[in-house]
Amino acid sequence: MVEKKLSLLTYGCQMNKHDSERIAGILKEENYSLTDNIEKADMILLNTCSVREKAEQKVYSQLGRLKKLKEKSPHLIIGVCGCIAQKEKKRILNKVPFVDLIFGTHNIHNLPQLLHNFRYGNEKVVEILDESVDFNFSSPIYRESKIQAWVSIMHGCNNYCSYCVVPYTRGREKSMPSSLILDECARLSNEGYKEVTLLGQNVNSYGNDIKGEGDFADLLEKVNQIDSLERIRFITSHPKDISEKLIERISTLPKVCEHLHLPIQSGSDRILEKMNRGYTAEHYLEIITKLRSLIPDIGLTTDIIIGFPEEKEEDFQLTKRLLQDIKYDIIFLFKYSPRPETKAALLKETVSAEKKQERFDDLLSIQKEITLSKNKSLEGKIEEILVEGESKKNKNKLTGRTRTNKIVNFYGSKDLIGKTINIYIKKGGLYSLEGELIRGN
Ligand code: 5AD
Ligand code: SF4
Repeated sequence: MVEKKLSLLTYGCQMNKHDSERIAGILKEENYSLTDNIEKADMILLNTCSVREKAEQKVYSQLGRLKKLKEKSPHLIIGVCGCIAQKEKKRILNKVPFVDLIFGTHNIHNLPQLLHNFRYGNEKVVEILDESVDFNFSSPIYRESKIQAWVSIMHGCNNYCSYCVVPYTRGREKSMPSSLILDECARLSNEGYKEVTLLGQNVNSYGNDIKGEGDFADLLEKVNQIDSLERIRFITSHPKDISEKLIERISTLPKVCEHLHLPIQSGSDRILEKMNRGYTAEHYLEIITKLRSLIPDIGLTTDIIIGFPEEKEEDFQLTKRLLQDIKYDIIFLFKYSPRPETKAALLKETVSAEKKQERFDDLLSIQKEITLSKNKSLEGKIEEILVEGESKKNKNKLTGRTRTNKIVNFYGSKDLIGKTINIYIKKGGLYSLEGELIRGN
């Protein structure tokens, strides 16, 4: 069979990126190989994100650009999948009539059948399931890295934060049996993978929906027992579900890396309540204190939403103070964007676009100073890194990550890729650290 080319354009979170690995794995078996050059592609798939309006706009403008390509080569297959496809098939069909294939977040396993239907039918193929089917690792996954792997441990989310579209695009929480997760992690480690990142919208509620599985802390303990695996990471955590047991496990299990991404969203209790987050700023701070008492150098990152409806100056000041107190390593800032179906979309927007920008810039400049000073404080220290590959910016350099999830670039020979080594930190920058090999590595 003639090999065909697939361009897979992925938007959004790690969950989507991992779904793209599954799509690429399945389509590889259908004789498609990946290309970055959309002009050369026989099929272009957009794996979309709808978490903010901007992400949606990006997808529709990309589709607009693809129209010309489709006119030039009518045999080109154009498909839309992921979160926008899950909720907006009608809008896609109206706005982008030249699309051939639409499938939702729960339909990836059925891709060979969809493709077959498209090839042998003479119509567009649209398939959206409302809820996820029981999932497993039986469909192939194409992972670019041979060192780190994402492993999905659950689907969906039950939290209904008032601003968030995810429960509507990804469905209810569904945990995967731990035996399957452990088999997958063991298989990956046998293949030479050194690091796994356990993925879920809220990994801390892992196991709540299946009896006898234990909780997320128990799962970490089991994954930690897999011999040749060196590092375990996980995202995303929810402050309301972080247990003492989990904090204790992070601090004692040797393979679990000292990094926690713990979205706070706002420092104001009034706004947290309107967001339906289920915790107060004080409770959040207690978690941080506990974490730092057991793991003083833990890497901490967070997400913050700016300009949620009714966010007043005093709410913003509370968020700002919290940032100054906690001193995260990195923060991800998002301007609030109302999403269809969510509860918050019914609230009147009270913060102007200019004000959102002003608050965004304010937090960003405070955080830049904090990040830089934290990275500079590592200068002269020795850090353990897992070497991931060539640096993207400079092919002569290698890149790796500390256990606390900081990027380190350094000169070294390619045979270090995949190895865990000690590195001397020469310089701390805003986005990465510059390291130097230590003799004897
Ligand atoms: N507007 C702005 N940011 C949002 N996020 C989720 N929904 C919205 C929204 N409607 C942010 C949250 C979440 C991150 C992945 O995206 O901060 O943690
Ligand atoms: Fe969205 Fe909240 Fe679920 Fe995270 S926990 S995916 S923010 S609803």
